[in-house]
Amino acid sequence: MNDKELIKLAVEARKRSYSPYSKFAVGAALLTKSGEVFLGCNIESAAFTPTCCAERTAIFKAVSEGHVELEAIAVAGAPHGKDPDGECAPCGVCRQMLVEFCEPLEFKIILGTPDKHTAYTLEELLPRSFGKKDL
Ligand code: THU
Repeated sequence: MNDKELIKLAVEARKRSYSPYSKFAVGAALLTKSGEVFLGCNIESAAFTPTCCAERTAIFKAVSEGHVELEAIAVAGAPHGKDPDGECAPCGVCRQMLVEFCEPLEFKIILGTPDKHTAYTLEELLPRSFGKKDL
């Protein structure tokens, strides 16, 4: 599974986004170290706060199925009716959840579109993070 394939799956995952309030659809494709892919989309609530981002949906699906060794995540987002044409960076809460399960120096976060994407490390997106090492 290469970066382009993973971001294509993230774009596919956007189709299931439940985002009637923001009208911004996000998809994520999370690759485990054993080669499985878990898809996620953003799921909103009329009360707003319970909303779950696409990245956390994918993480919760993987972890709840027993997959805690994670390799990479691709994220794609854009307003309803548009295709992603740039980067949709994970929010701070999702970055923190990624730190929980991913080795900061190795884990890849792929942002962009199938035609133009960049792979970042978790260390780049959340430097000097707080995690289980600190407790
Ligand atoms: N959202 C995500 O799913 N992932 C991100 O990385 C950024 C934001 C969602 C949350 C909300 O449903 C919508 O996008 C607008 O913020």
